[in-house]
Amino acid sequence: MKQLSETQLKENWDKLIQVIKDTFEDGSERRENLLKMYHDLEDRMIMAPASGKEEYHYCHVGGYVEHVLHVVDTARKMSDTYEAAGGHKNWTDEELVFSALHHDLGKVGDLNDEYYVPQDNDWRRKTLGEVYTSNTDIPNMRVPDRALFLLQHFGVKCSVNETLAIKLADGLYDEANAYYMKVFDAKRSLKNHLPYILHWADHMATTVEYDEWKRGDEDEKEEMESKIENIKNVTVAKQDQNGVPQEHEDPVLENKHKDLFDELFGDKS
Ligand SMILES: [Fe+2]
Repeated sequence: MKQLSETQLKENWDKLIQVIKDTFEDGSERRENLLKMYHDLEDRMIMAPASGKEEYHYCHVGGYVEHVLHVVDTARKMSDTYEAAGGHKNWTDEELVFSALHHDLGKVGDLNDEYYVPQDNDWRRKTLGEVYTSNTDIPNMRVPDRALFLLQHFGVKCSVNETLAIKLADGLYDEANAYYMKVFDAKRSLKNHLPYILHWADHMATTVEYDEWKRGDEDEKEEMESKIENIKNVTVAKQDQNGVPQEHEDPVLENKHKDLFDELFGDKS
């Protein structure tokens, strides 16, 4: 599983704060209230994962901030692609970035406690890959609803485009969104397509993150197999032609064997 260093966690956090400073007008109420919210939630937000299961996406410490930055970047590209394909962009860049920044805000938790807590059931962790589970001590709310609650708590106003984009970020993966997205009366259909842009961006970023996890897992397996192979090779070199183990006289090879063992299993000395 991916592990971010302290430096990487800090760099991602700084990038996130910079996106806010670059996007919202200096001195505006919205920017000030957002910075206050980020300051208050900082400790939990830096550490939060983006999901609870290994096979989902960015289920590691710092995964939330990393995922949000990924969605902001992908949403900008998706919006450009939409226009390049002939679509009419009737949302602002600020609405686009604001929605991407906060589509998963509810995953950070409520005012006092986190949403994702470590899974302490061994069986569920090993068999189902549940690294985290949802905290049942906080009120049960859908992630977008908690996001909108937090924003209003900190006095951050949302436009109707942003409200719908955050609410519908999961697209039709959330059945509750059918009310807005599966409409057979043109008069009731979405009046702008920012929710689609955000959903596509979130879906694409999530899919890429899954691929990254899958590749990382395979790379880790290959690396482990290669280390085991190296140990076997050194071990074979320590046998005579009949396969009888020999005390090794070559101190370089002897040390290499020890180094490989330590690298694989950790230095137990
Ligand atoms: Fe997301």
